[in-house]
Amino acid sequence: MKLIILDHYSQASEWAAKYIRNRIIQFNPGPDKYFTLGLPTGSTPLGCYKKLIEYYKNGDLSFKYVKTFNMDEYVVLDGNAADLQAECDAFEEKIKAAGGIELFVGGIGPDGHIAFNEPGSSLVSRTRVKTLAMDTILANARFFDGKLANVPTMALTVGVGTVMDAREVMILITGAHKAFALYKAIEEGVNHMWTVSAFQQHPRTVFVCDEDATLELKVKTVKYFKGLMLVHNKLVDPLYSIKEKEIEKSQSSKKPYSD
Ligand code: PGA
Repeated sequence: MKLIILDHYSQASEWAAKYIRNRIIQFNPGPDKYFTLGLPTGSTPLGCYKKLIEYYKNGDLSFKYVKTFNMDEYVVLDGNAADLQAECDAFEEKIKAAGGIELFVGGIGPDGHIAFNEPGSSLVSRTRVKTLAMDTILANARFFDGKLANVPTMALTVGVGTVMDAREVMILITGAHKAFALYKAIEEGVNHMWTVSAFQQHPRTVFVCDEDATLELKVKTVKYFKGLMLVHNKLVDPLYSIKEKEIEKSQSSKKPYSD
């Protein structure tokens, strides 16, 4: 596991966006080789998404050969899909057909849920319908005019097992309200009451957080990972751009001059 600690939300968001940018460019996607990206909902990833949009607009990154899968979706009151479990099963099949997820980006709730895998969810669960925990309903009321009654009580969510199958997982954790969850995620054992802790058993997990999120960690843990930042920053520096790739391509296609 890598734990990346940046001072503030904006730096954490930028680091995550740079990481995604480099991973996509280094993967070298094309018509026969799509980059599959799992993406979270919620407010945490917004800063990262804004940066990705900026890279796209500047011509540094392209999503032409990127396929995305969303982590979760509320079950709205009129129920869009007639058979919700069939919808979930079809989602798993689509991921499989796309060759699996290369990079799953996730956010967590203050109760340590990953996607909507609430406390007590099976750590080998697949995409399914979940009843939301009261903590989640309270936390998300801000997206529904602050009215608890307006928050859907059920959601479709990828399972912990679905995310575990990704070749790499990046989890964004920012804010003091997530500090206890980060502590449970990395300093204690794997536990289904803190579903994000499952990623201790994933071979490639990167947690990206801000200082506030580290408030419940041991000083020793924070110092250890901060000491590794020199190494971990090499993952985003140099920062690749598809502009360079295009220049390389056009130069290699030019025939050497001869007369
Ligand atoms: P947030 O939600 O990013 O809005 O805090 C994350 C989550 O509940 O999974």
